[in-house]
Amino acid sequence: MDKFFHVEDIGDLSKALAEAKQVKETPFAWKHLGENKTIMLVFFNSSLRTRLSSQKAALNLGMNPVVLNIGQDSWKLETEMGVIMDGDKSEHLREAIPVMTSYCDLIGIRSFAGLTDREYDYNETVLNQFIEFGCKPVISLESATVHPCQAFADLITIEEYKKTKRPKVVMTWAPHPKALPQAVPNSFAEWMNAADVDFVIAQPEGYELDPRFAGNARIEYDQMKALEGADFVYAKNWSCPGVTNPADYGKILSKDMGWTVDAAHMAVTNNAYFMHCLPVRRNMIVSDEVIDAPTSLVIPEAANRVVSAQVVMKRMLESL
Ligand code: CP
Repeated sequence: MDKFFHVEDIGDLSKALAEAKQVKETPFAWKHLGENKTIMLVFFNSSLRTRLSSQKAALNLGMNPVVLNIGQDSWKLETEMGVIMDGDKSEHLREAIPVMTSYCDLIGIRSFAGLTDREYDYNETVLNQFIEFGCKPVISLESATVHPCQAFADLITIEEYKKTKRPKVVMTWAPHPKALPQAVPNSFAEWMNAADVDFVIAQPEGYELDPRFAGNARIEYDQMKALEGADFVYAKNWSCPGVTNPADYGKILSKDMGWTVDAAHMAVTNNAYFMHCLPVRRNMIVSDEVIDAPTSLVIPEAANRVVSAQVVMKRMLESL
């Protein structure tokens, strides 16, 4: 395994889930794999869960994690080719990437979408430079369009808590004061489409995800109708993906608080579990009573971030 961006990179999902179960039960059983190996975790953006769970996963495998916060611990990096570097960015990725990869065996990158240039973001311009100019296996730790470690952890959580063989999983858009990238909903949709679940996306009009991620998922513009009989409710905000109107890319088209997931929304479900990737804005995305209920999975979901990261790193170490 030399990259982890999309669901197909993990291969057979049943095997991946079985491996995740093993890793969770015996996290230190593969400590020999990481001996004298280093993973570099490069953050262009803030993080709590991804940073900590990636370090913990690496340590469980006996690896040395090295964390670099770009622009705080390092020089500010230029990411665009062909520019005159007369601003505040002292170093170009073209040099920084091969230098960083010369110091490690695996590399993980967090680099959010800028939300101003759809083509730049959807071409994964920054992440792909790590493939082009680096020479080590690359993990997306949430890049412009995908967050695969999160989606894998979400699937592990659904597998652990499902009460029926093929649960109904509803991902619902919810309001947020800031424009957020589409990486989490893109990856969640991609992974749910590949999993054995009945997957529905509830969203206001204009929020259609890119077809390469939405696939054949049922889209429902009536949130209450979508939630009827749901076994899992996955709330998330995202900004306009610019599918129907490219000029709206990255914009906030709605702040409708009627979409905040509250007790009335959960009442039409099949006593559903509530999920969110965190960080979450309480009483914007979800009401206190829903996130604080025993059916809220946000903490076990976050804990499974160690498991998903560890399976991915384990496979990469095994194929070095
Ligand atoms: N869910 C998630 O990726 O959390 P962080 O942004 O805190 O890493």
